[in-house]
Amino acid sequence: MVTLEPCAHTGRTPPCTDALRAAGVARVVHAASDPTPQAAGGGEVLRAAGVAVRSGLLAEEVEQGPLRAWLHFARTGRPHVTWKYAATLDGRSAAVDGTSKWISSAPSRAEVHRLRARVDAIVAGTGTVLADDPHLTARDEDGRLLDRQPLRVVVGDRPLPPGARVLDDAAETLLLPGGDPAAVLDALAARGAVDVLLEGGPRLAGAFVAAGCVHRVLAYIAPMLLGSGPTALGEAGVASISQAWRWRIERTTMSGPDVRVSAVPIGRG
Ligand SMILES: NC(=O)c1ccc[n+]([C@@H]2O[C@H](COP(=O)([O-])OP(=O)(O)OC[C@H]3O[C@@H](n4cnc5c(N)ncnc54)[C@H](OP(=O)(O)O)[C@@H]3O)[C@@H](O)[C@H]2O)c1
Repeated sequence: MVTLEPCAHTGRTPPCTDALRAAGVARVVHAASDPTPQAAGGGEVLRAAGVAVRSGLLAEEVEQGPLRAWLHFARTGRPHVTWKYAATLDGRSAAVDGTSKWISSAPSRAEVHRLRARVDAIVAGTGTVLADDPHLTARDEDGRLLDRQPLRVVVGDRPLPPGARVLDDAAETLLLPGGDPAAVLDALAARGAVDVLLEGGPRLAGAFVAAGCVHRVLAYIAPMLLGSGPTALGEAGVASISQAWRWRIERTTMSGPDVRVSAVPIGRG
């Protein structure tokens, strides 16, 4: 029983279908079908060889879970983007003086660090890096670097001060001037990034939403009110309610005192 249809092609390894037949496997159950033209069709190859194959079992769970980013990359050639943010109950992502440490709780921040260690790249705009001087690394509760560090990506034209934390040697950092979201994703795809975490701020996130380049929202809504200060999302190409970007909430859970919301896009208007 596997998440992905066994492949029928030679890539870095020989075909999985050959290995299964050689091992005498009589029955294969898989969730998602392989969408890549070069590797698809493994199920048919196995059936033709007399192996019982069942597909689609728990497919939705797998599509929204462990294979979400990989399947997106395989279908589109661009990385999957999760926009993660922390906001107050009144939708603010920073106070009016620009401070935002900390809106979300310690358990939520720890969860985000674990998430960082699983993705391929973290993307932030120059606005966030200049305002907050973040490390953009994955760390444990004691501040120690986790074993796996994502590529740090800073998008925008303004130069960073030489001492910016994001330029330290804790992880690799890529500076991308310009800021067209599709071009950013193409640059990341060229470096093999499949799963990307967009960590703001509001202006860059607005540009990504407007370009249809956010595939999941992960929001940590904190029980806090600010009343003024920037909202979580900047300008996103919406002039009227009829142009609103529509999302489907796929899950809500508590994260310490915060509500964690996961949502996926369903369209516009
Ligand atoms: N609560 C949260 O989750 C959270 C997360 C992140 C940040 N923040 C807060 O957000 C504030 C910073 O906000 P921000 O909106 O200035 O940050 P930002 O979105 O990180 O940076 C905006 C800058 O990114 C560059 N950029 C590159 N491509 C762009 C594009 N397509 N569209 C728009 N801008 C693009 C521009 O700078 P250039 O002129 O250099 O090109 C722009 O001024 C800080 O107060 C920070 O604390 C909060």
